[in-house]
Amino acid sequence: MVITIAGGGSTFTAGIVKSIALRREELEVDEIRLFDINKERQDKVAVVVDWVLHKELNTDIKLVVTTDVQQAYTDASFVFAQMRVGGYAMREQDEKIPLRHGCVGQETCGCGGMAYGMRTIFPMIKLIDDVEKYAKKDYWILNYSNPAAIVSEACRKLRPKARIINICDMPIAIIDVVAAAMGIQNKKEIVYDYFGLNHFGWFTSIQYRGEDLMPKLRAYIKENKILLPESYLKGMGALTSSSSQNRHTKGSWYYVWKGEYEIMENFPEYLPNTYLNYYLQAKEFVEHSDPNHTRANEVEETREKNLFDGIDHYLKTGKVDANTFYAGSHGDWIADLSAALKTDTKARSLITTENRGAIPNMPYDAMELPAYIGKNGPEVIARDNIPLFQQGLMMQQLNSEKLLVEGCVEGSYEKVLQAFTLNKTVPSMNVAKAILDDMIEANKGYSWRIKTLDGADHGFARAEVEGYGGMLMSTWFDRSLSVAGRLLVRTADGVESRLVHPERALACIPNLCIHFNREANTGLNYNPQVDLQPIFGAEGGCLKDTLAAEAGGKAEDILATDLVLCITEKAQRVGLQGEYFMSGRIDDLECAYATLYGFLQGRGEEAGRGDIWVMFDNEEVGSSSRQGAQGSLMSDVLARIEESLGVTKEQSIRARTNCLLLSADNGHAIHPNHPEKSDQKLPVNMGGGVILKYNARQTYTTSGLTGAAFTAICEKAGVPVQTFANRADVAGGSTLGNLLGRQILMPMVDIGVGQLAMHSAMETASCKDAEYLANACAAYYNTPIFQPEDGQWKLGL
Ligand code: NAD
Ligand code: G6P
Ligand code: MN
Repeated sequence: MVITIAGGGSTFTAGIVKSIALRREELEVDEIRLFDINKERQDKVAVVVDWVLHKELNTDIKLVVTTDVQQAYTDASFVFAQMRVGGYAMREQDEKIPLRHGCVGQETCGCGGMAYGMRTIFPMIKLIDDVEKYAKKDYWILNYSNPAAIVSEACRKLRPKARIINICDMPIAIIDVVAAAMGIQNKKEIVYDYFGLNHFGWFTSIQYRGEDLMPKLRAYIKENKILLPESYLKGMGALTSSSSQNRHTKGSWYYVWKGEYEIMENFPEYLPNTYLNYYLQAKEFVEHSDPNHTRANEVEETREKNLFDGIDHYLKTGKVDANTFYAGSHGDWIADLSAALKTDTKARSLITTENRGAIPNMPYDAMELPAYIGKNGPEVIARDNIPLFQQGLMMQQLNSEKLLVEGCVEGSYEKVLQAFTLNKTVPSMNVAKAILDDMIEANKGYSWRIKTLDGADHGFARAEVEGYGGMLMSTWFDRSLSVAGRLLVRTADGVESRLVHPERALACIPNLCIHFNREANTGLNYNPQVDLQPIFGAEGGCLKDTLAAEAGGKAEDILATDLVLCITEKAQRVGLQGEYFMSGRIDDLECAYATLYGFLQGRGEEAGRGDIWVMFDNEEVGSSSRQGAQGSLMSDVLARIEESLGVTKEQSIRARTNCLLLSADNGHAIHPNHPEKSDQKLPVNMGGGVILKYNARQTYTTSGLTGAAFTAICEKAGVPVQTFANRADVAGGSTLGNLLGRQILMPMVDIGVGQLAMHSAMETASCKDAEYLANACAAYYNTPIFQPEDGQWKLGL
């Protein structure tokens, strides 16, 4: 039998492999495969796994270490999933961001847990799909990747037929501590009842050889003011964990054991899961947390460091300190569960699975419950109604988790915000929003950002998109589309940016047929999140894989992307005489082209001047980005040029005002079907020449003075000029010159050419105008321009 561990580079891998190997006969395991997306980390961990299997235990179990899903899962019977999407670096963010807002910052609870959940949902779904494709038909996935509650809900919703059981070692770790406190040697003789959600539940009874331990336990906790027995408290200061010590009692874990006492002082009936402290004592948790040093840091400095130091030590010296390799005892329990599933033992175990009425007064969602485990999976054990207090808390938490999953799947910011707002660790909607927005920022590199690269939906492959700028949405329907942009790819030396643009049709956004939408021709009303999501062919396809292949890399090495959808049609001439052209993005590639053409014709240096050409991005979204006209790019570069030339501040300011800047962006020609939209006394005709734009509100920079200079240059070059102004009753758009003008005091003029269908996927403009604009720009770059006095031009025409 083949067992695959997904997240092979985990700090827990060695311990789990050891537990399996010790039970190799019962489990009939002859091959263990490690799968991870981080090859380097997994290769290191594999060194110790190899030692465990082939030196320490001297087994003949074959070990395969891979980053290839097919190799990992082909014919596997069990898959143990233990991935940490985002690693410890993101755990740190999950913990620290909420703390900065005065809220609980924890790996799996509250906002941190929700952010971790959003990162993990889609990788888990991918794992299920990969396993379905390659593994044995009766495979079982035992998942303990956190946050298990959210992951369970997502699996239940998106892959309801998957053979997956979600598990958590916290309840058994609590039972370990209870056994130690009660002086019980064989903890396997302890039988308990429990209900809850993962990391959110209660022990209702704990029995040892038929004796009810609860009264004794209550008395113990009351007397000691903590659940931890003396033997555990002794090692409290030391963070290091070893197989003989319970890691759940180290470092900041201390508070939750003390919290067991605090909660039971008020609610003594049940023994709470330690994780309930984050909800019932949220304020106190924040107070004793160090926002600059959280559990993620503790683990990095201890469990993770010890493991990798231990491996290095072994590689250097051949000597092994086994204590550094094993991070906990939950491996035994995972092996127990596998054995129950394999050999149909019907062992009683606490797992997270669908409630199915087991708790009558809770819905059919994922709950943590005792179940009998056999080869057909878990059979949950029914119980009575639960009390109102617990039920109320659970419903709040459950609905928060469900909203989160729905929000991720539907791409609804509102639902995700509701999830954050509903969570008991968050005091107000505004705090929820502030944390969520910070989380979105911190998680930009992860697919959770509602914009996934590998979704599937009703048999289609999906990748979600959001609109850019003020687009004409209807024009994106029923066109063949491709994708262009860059991938940030992990390489041996770091991260590399690679441009991609598969020049073939990869996607389309099909219209809803007229039969389903009789109103389609009487008024268009699109919701970009619903109507404008493209399909990328049939389910099973994965855009990430396609782009990775295009860029010569692996999908798992793509760390982030900057991608846009684009049309696949090439530009073409149209009209009886080919006088117009149609193309995507004429606004504003036409001006970018024409002004660059002019610049390249310029004789600036010969004429003793400095010619400058700048192209800014993001004009369509307001220019207020680093690379937009509102950024400091131009003033910074000019300052550097001036400094290198030894120009004084005074000279600089004077030179900047003694010039003429063209701000070039397209405008609107009169549309024959709707001439009333234009000021017909100032018509801009297609092919009628360059336009000079005026606006009383100063959204265009042209003044009489600068307009005159530009007109004189055009006249000399034989280029006709048309004046453009919006109708007095129309607001019109703005462009970049006025934004740039706030920082740089240059005299400016706003120019362009008139075009049709601006912001359509396919726009139309005049070939003649393109030529006029290019010639006007060439003339401009060849004309010495000075202002000898204010209000006077000297043009070297
Ligand atoms: P870790 O960072 O040491 O290991 C996780 C590994 O997962 C890393 O090697 C990482 O590269 C890999 N990984 C990340 N994304 C992946 C993906 N998409 N596919 C495959 N591998 C991927 O973390 P850890 O502290 O060892 O914890 C591992 C997981 O187990 C976490 O989710 C943690 O919360 C969980 N955990 C659960 C329990 C439980 O009882 N439920 C107990 C302990 C840990
Ligand atoms: C318990 C929980 C896990 C959690 C872990 C964190 O085992 O059941 O779900 O991931 O604690 O432990 P750590 O040592 O990483 O803080
Ligand atoms: Mn857990």
